[in-house]
Amino acid sequence: MKRELLMMGPMYPATLQELEETYIVHKLWLAADRDALLASLAERIDAVATSGTKGIDDATMAKLPKLRMISHFGVGVDSIDIEAVKRRGIMLSNTPDVLTDDVADLAIGLLIAVSRKLVAGDRHVREGKWLKGPLPLAESVQGKTLGIVGMGRIGRAIAKRGQAFNLEIAYQGPNKKTDVSWRYFADPVALAKESDYLVAACPGGESTRNLVSRAVLEALGPKGVVVNISRGSVIDETAMVELLKDGKLGGAGLDVFEHEPKVPEALFAMENVVLQPHVGSATHPTRKAMGQLQIDNLAAYFGGKPLVSRFC
Ligand code: 8YV
Repeated sequence: MKRELLMMGPMYPATLQELEETYIVHKLWLAADRDALLASLAERIDAVATSGTKGIDDATMAKLPKLRMISHFGVGVDSIDIEAVKRRGIMLSNTPDVLTDDVADLAIGLLIAVSRKLVAGDRHVREGKWLKGPLPLAESVQGKTLGIVGMGRIGRAIAKRGQAFNLEIAYQGPNKKTDVSWRYFADPVALAKESDYLVAACPGGESTRNLVSRAVLEALGPKGVVVNISRGSVIDETAMVELLKDGKLGGAGLDVFEHEPKVPEALFAMENVVLQPHVGSATHPTRKAMGQLQIDNLAAYFGGKPLVSRFC
């Protein structure tokens, strides 16, 4: 007999198909009456599938008293109330590692795109401006210092790539890592002062809200470039927009935003800014691998085995 699974939001199609073959999948985001669906499932649902855009809050967990397992699609778990998960004794899995390389690739891509004016260059050719003159010269990436906020899996993958581009690596985080030799700064302002590029690669959530503050961005300065592939909440977005407008911050490469998909319109007119619609992990092989890990964690839970990638 098929077990039942509650899904909070849209899922990568191949993952959804496989889950639907294995389970009776209830799609909460499509319910005309969300509360009625939750009430009708309350005594039967012990596992839910969440994602970065559709997580789960304490109030929803309260409506599912039998809930024991949350299988999350994504490495960042900021769309889930972790305190409530722990208090309620629920298991949570996420999808680390499988997306690290794609996200790190995008960070370096943004860094190069801003410095070498790749998007402006593309427009220059397409709009026929090349016929009238060359693109203004760009900045070189070579020999600069790359400051990384958060030296976790993704931070390390970015550092590795940075070294291949002859960048000097430095980082900030809650703790100095014993297994890396790069320069460590406990204070993000001190890191930004030393950096030409500052990449936010730490987890989102309350503990890192506005970690890249106005003071950090000011320390990065008029020639500095900030790159964000983690969460919009990590950067003080209002300050960032103001400083970019006033020429007090050199440029930005942004994949994530505080109120995405809403993006501050002031950024649209800025030539020194490259924008992406949260696509760090958005490739077919990576999304498929993330889905597989979500599926494997559910199978482990229902099979009474240890989770494959348990977050807490
Ligand atoms: C996804 C992400 O966009 O893994 C994460 O934390 O931000 C991205 O990989 C998102 O999780 C999809 O739900």
